[in-house]
Amino acid sequence: MRMYDLIAKKRDGYSLTKEEINFVIAGFTSGEIPDYQMSAFLMAVYLRGMTDEETAQMTLAMAHSGDMVDLSGIDGIKVDKHSTGGVGDKTTLVIAPIVASCGVKVAKMSGRGLGHTGGTVDKMESVPGCRTSLPREEFFEQVNRVGISVIGQSGNLAPADKKMYALRDVTATVGCVPLIASSIMSKKLAAGSDCILLDVKTGNGAFMKTLDGSIELAKAMTAIGEHNGRRVAALITDMDTPLGYAVGNSLEVSESMEVLKGRGPEDLKEVCLQLAANMLYLAQKGDLQQCRSMAEEAIRSGKAFEVCKQMFAAQGGDTSVLDDCSKFHKAAYSKQVFAPQDGYVLSTDTEKIGIASVLLGAGRQTKDDIIDFAAGLILHKKVGDHVKAGEPLATLYAEDETRFAQAEKMFLSAYCFSDVPVNKPALVLARVTKEGVERFE
Ligand code: URA
Repeated sequence: MRMYDLIAKKRDGYSLTKEEINFVIAGFTSGEIPDYQMSAFLMAVYLRGMTDEETAQMTLAMAHSGDMVDLSGIDGIKVDKHSTGGVGDKTTLVIAPIVASCGVKVAKMSGRGLGHTGGTVDKMESVPGCRTSLPREEFFEQVNRVGISVIGQSGNLAPADKKMYALRDVTATVGCVPLIASSIMSKKLAAGSDCILLDVKTGNGAFMKTLDGSIELAKAMTAIGEHNGRRVAALITDMDTPLGYAVGNSLEVSESMEVLKGRGPEDLKEVCLQLAANMLYLAQKGDLQQCRSMAEEAIRSGKAFEVCKQMFAAQGGDTSVLDDCSKFHKAAYSKQVFAPQDGYVLSTDTEKIGIASVLLGAGRQTKDDIIDFAAGLILHKKVGDHVKAGEPLATLYAEDETRFAQAEKMFLSAYCFSDVPVNKPALVLARVTKEGVERFE
């Protein structure tokens, strides 16, 4: 078999066999197939697409390119969750403890921030002392004892995806359903949970900008998971505006703790309750309504917050900052951004808000950048809110005052105003399972 012939076959719109796909993935992972040939192959897939069989086969080949985690040493049903990435998306910190406090094990590997989007591992590391890399035995022991552990992805989980993603990032081949679906699901299959809930973000701050595109991606990922014996559901959730009000690592942990303490912003709380209910449903804890009531009770009783603290404590984190979030280290400087005019907030370019937060130091601009955990922003006005000229739209936080000028400019360019009232966006737009698609608009 020659890589040249397989590139040409895909370029001309033909489907590849299982053996051909295995050849491409194994050859690229081992280094026998060079980046320039793989780049051409990825572009051919981007332009020509893949059949469901090809996507499923490529996902399996990518999952098996490294360790397949065996979670059988952990008792009971294990449930995982994946978000396709957003701004202010701190749901894992809320829903994983809710689900674990309802008796369903969460043995989860999460990612770091990518581009303008944040990552759970970075947020967790903003809690002083918290370790996000644990030896496997300790990870298993913690999940059996506390019911939950969230750690960073191990180096050898789906290495084919790691190499492919790095190439896609620089060859304009990220936004393609078979490539995104195989990238995400290869890691989820390798991570070993029985059930997987997918939070597919849609809108201007997400990888998938349209609802139809997000549903297509959710269907592809659900089919791959179910085909491989996992129970899978996907919620399509809004990313036309950040979730909650806080963007930035310790700021987001504080907001998540507010929700676990029964307070917090309504939009964040509602999305978390729906995601948690669906995770409990996948773990066969009841029908969706019963599962939602369980999730609400886990917050009301304080059980979910207790489990969250136990998880951080087990991973070495200082839980006093979770009890009293004012104890988090604070940024040296803050600056308010004021509305330039009266009106209703018509839209916010969520990607620009994410970039503003990265410019303040909350994310990485190069892969070696060190994150400033206290940096970020708190929104005061979101889509649908009325604002008067000169009222604050947000407060920015940074360790270094010189960061404000560029971040403020980027932030202000994200806002559009209207003279007439604007509806708040819907939070959950659709649910996708193997039974089909329910649209909620
Ligand atoms: N997240 C991933 O892990 N892979 C993609 O391709 C896109 C988002």
